[in-house]
Parts: sequence; structure tokens; C-alpha cells
Amino acid sequence: MERLTITTTPIEGQKPGTSGLRKKTRIFMQPHYLENFVQAIWNGIGGVQGKTLVLGGDGRYFNDRAAQVILRMAAAGGAERVIVGQGALLSTPAASNLIRQRGADGGVIMSASHNPGGPDEDFGVKFNMSNGGPAPEDVTARMFEATKTLTEYHIVQTHDVDLDTLGESQMGDMIVEVVDPVADYATLMADLFDFDAIKALFAGGFTMCFDAMHAITGPYATAILEDTLGAAPGTVINAVPSPDFGGGHPDPNPIWAKTLMDLMMGNAAPDFGAASDGDGDRNMIVGKGCYVTPSDSLAVLAANAHLAPGYKDGLAGVARSMPTSGAVDRVAEKLGIGSYETPTGWKFFGNLLDAGRATLCGEESAGTGSDHVREKDGLWAVLLWLNILAVRNQSVLAVMQDHWGEYGRNYYSRHDYEAIDSAAANSLMQGLRDKLAHLPGQTVAGLVISAADEFAYDDPVDGSRSEGQGIRILFEGGARVVMRLSGTGTEGATLRVYLEWFSADDFGKDPQQALSSVIEAADTLAGIRDLTGRTAPDVIT
Ligand code: G6P
Ligand code: ZN
Repeated sequence: MERLTITTTPIEGQKPGTSGLRKKTRIFMQPHYLENFVQAIWNGIGGVQGKTLVLGGDGRYFNDRAAQVILRMAAAGGAERVIVGQGALLSTPAASNLIRQRGADGGVIMSASHNPGGPDEDFGVKFNMSNGGPAPEDVTARMFEATKTLTEYHIVQTHDVDLDTLGESQMGDMIVEVVDPVADYATLMADLFDFDAIKALFAGGFTMCFDAMHAITGPYATAILEDTLGAAPGTVINAVPSPDFGGGHPDPNPIWAKTLMDLMMGNAAPDFGAASDGDGDRNMIVGKGCYVTPSDSLAVLAANAHLAPGYKDGLAGVARSMPTSGAVDRVAEKLGIGSYETPTGWKFFGNLLDAGRATLCGEESAGTGSDHVREKDGLWAVLLWLNILAVRNQSVLAVMQDHWGEYGRNYYSRHDYEAIDSAAANSLMQGLRDKLAHLPGQTVAGLVISAADEFAYDDPVDGSRSEGQGIRILFEGGARVVMRLSGTGTEGATLRVYLEWFSADDFGKDPQQALSSVIEAADTLAGIRDLTGRTAPDVIT
């Protein structure tokens, strides 16, 4: 087998974002594009000589081709073994688990998460470290530096490896081990949750609809919910992963999972609804006639986690990203445990989880997880909810009402303005930044501003500092507006406006109504309509 050294030149724009490098698939398919980036990953982590890696992806278009390239480059780099999910498939949380279970040195995950897939849609590649978590900023910075100076990459010349058959094969000196993508993950879930209680719940006639959105969780959810826990056949819908996710947008929110939302709001609603995204790390939870915002879901899980065997001794602490509502902070306060506020991006939870400071983490962007892996985990959240419902023997709505009754309600919504002009987005943010110092004390839309700043995070574990992590404006009484530009978009800029309003005793309002003055304040302060030319958000979650 010949090891080739291919001459190349740096390709601009290969900067890993919130979650690896995401680009249009056709960009990734250009000559040298993927190869350059993979070589930059190897260079950024000090090479792969003698290392064991995990490889898998969410099955989107180009997943299979990219897997072969990455394997050939791992072999050229001298890797000892690559553990690949059958069919080059692995959900992100399952990849994280596999890295940890097998003591691998890291892993490459091929996914653009919740972004659509297909030749004209998105592809992505990210690297996770030996703790199973996304590469931290210093490592991704080294990868980016490497992309800027690359002059060659190494790849072996060989035929495709069969990734459909379980077992080991050789690629030169490197072992390619094809494993069942579901098995280890399913074992972990059975350790954490009271499967007997959930089985009894389903046996008692409890009904559920899990929308896998034609993405990676289909096989996982079918194996665990239907085959193991006894949910009725057909509980999992859109269960077969497809390269373009059935033409859909695999993002589990009320907009993109509209079919499920309509079902849950209608007369024929099952007891419980859930969905997960392209690579299986996000989740949406919805009860009969009751959508649960991700921020509330995190708070409910924190308050009830002790009902599941894996968390029976309680939580060490909780962490949320800054734009996520403060609902979980109220739970932490009552439990007397630590709570942390981090920048957006799961990678910021890694140190807190590794150091045992936080057990549960979550983000408003539909991510929840715990220290069982180092990624957010969609199906895990669904199973923890099921465990809680089984033990409490209550509907989702009743759980929510009890929760708000005890802690108050943080009304919450996010308004997204997608694919807006980047220059306009940057000047909107700069305009806000420039006036932050003068805002406290001013009244906007009837709300008095108590504080305004641009969020910076000092990691309590490694002392690193991350600046420019979103602008937040706090109002007297607990309302808040946060604005930041998305770090995961692939077209123009996406402005995210996060809105929050707290009530200690009024739980029955429609969130958009409850938030109306906060929404007005956001527009007045940032001039969203004027600067973006948009009259309404593209997506409201
Ligand atoms: C990915 C990351 C999340 C993060 C989200 C936000 O899903 O894994 O940790 O919360 O992106 O992305 P944004 O587009 O708001 O930067
Ligand atoms: Zn995802």
C-alpha cells in the first residue's frame, strides 16, 4: 500500500466554529478541501502516530465518501486503530461514549448537526478529544493555524474498506474495527435509567411519538424505545436515516418538527412526544398540548434527576449557557448545589464535567446532557424524562405546573433572524456594544435596565478567558434580553435574540404575550427592523 504525499496550498476559511468546521457539502467535496482540513486536525493534535481513533457520522450525503478519506489519512498518519460505527454511522453522543469506553485518543465526527444535508446543503467535520468532548478552543486554534500554512497532506492509496460488515480488517498497518453503533450506547442508557419502571409505563398503555427526523437517532430510538422498553411499534417515526434527511431540516424545534407539534397539540396526541436532530445530540420534549422549552426542560431534569438510578445520589452542580434561561439556577439554589453560566457551545461544559463540578448541563438550543458522556445527548434527555414520568406517574403538563408552582416560571423565547447581511449584523452588534455603558437606569418599553454588558467567561477550572460571548441587557424584576450572532450558520449571519421574563405566580400566559415588552425593548435597543430590513423573525422557538 503506497503512502502518498500530496502537495497542497492553504485553503481560506477553514476555521472551526462553535462545533467544528461546517460548510456547504459542495465546498467540502472540492479537491483537497476535506484532506487539507483533516491534515490540519492531525497537525493540530500533534499527529495520529500510534493512536486509536473513533470515526462515525450522522449519515448525511458525503458521509460515506468522507469516512474513506479520513481512514486513508489516519493510516497515512500512522494511526494504530480506528473504531468505526457500522455504515460509518455514529450519533454524536454515541461517538463520545465510544471514545470514553474504549479509551481512544479522540474521534472524528462527520456531521453538520441540525443543518439540512444533501449535495446542496451542509456537511461538517469535528474532532473530539480523549475525554469524549469537542476539542477546546486552544486545540481548534492550532488546527486553524495549521490550515493556513499547509503545504502537503498524507494519504494512503488503497481500495475502499467495507464498513458495512462488523469486525476487523487491515488498512496497511492500521486496524479498522467496524462496530455496532448502537450497542455500547444502549448499555450505558440501561445503566443510568430505571428500564423496568419505563417498561411498566409502556406496558400500562402510555403512548409516545419519537420523531427521528430521518436522522441518526432512528436506529438508536427504535432499538431502545421499541425493542427494549416495549413502546408500541411505530412509536418512532421517520426512523430510517437518509442522506438528505428526507428533504427536511433535522432540527427538533416547533418549526422544523411541525408534524410532531401538530400531533401533540391535537386531539389524537399521545402522552409524550420527543424529537432529536441530525446527529442525535439535541432534543425536543413535548407533552399533550404542552411544549417544554429547552430551558425549562433542563430545570425539570435537574429537579428530578435523583429519580433515575444513575443520579440517585444527587447532582454535584448544574451548568447552563449564558443565553439559557435562569430556571435551572432556581433549582440549584434550592438544592444547594453549584450553578455555572458558560458561553454558548457544549465544549465549555467539558472542564466542569471533567472536574466533577457539574453533573447536568443544558442549553436553550435544545441540548441537555450529563457527565455520562462529553456531548449533549438527545435520547438520554428523552429517557430521563420517561424515567421521571414513570416514577412521578404524572403527565408532562402536571409536571410543568408543579415545577412552576414551586420555582416560578421563566417565560422564554428565542427569535432568529437568519441569513442576514453580515455587515448589517456586525454593525447592529457594534451599535449595541457602543452604548452598553450608558444603558443602566434607562427605561425602554416600560422596563428599567439594571445592567448591560458583553459576556466574558473565566473558566474556573483552567483559568482561560473567552470574551465577546453575547450582549446581555438585564431589567429590574428579572427580565432579560441577550443578543449574539450564531457561530454555526453557513450563510450570511444569523442574529439570535433571547428573551426572558420571570413571574413568581402567573403561569398561564402565552410566552410571546408574556414577553411582549421584552420583545419591544430588544427592537428599540438594537434597531433590529431598521438594520436588518426584516419585520419579523424567521424562526421563533
Ligand atoms: C451547536 C453546539 C451547541 C450550541 C449551538 C449554538 O449545536 O453544539 O453547543 O449551543 O451550536 O449554536 P449557535 O448557532 O447559536 O452559535
Ligand atoms: Zn446536533
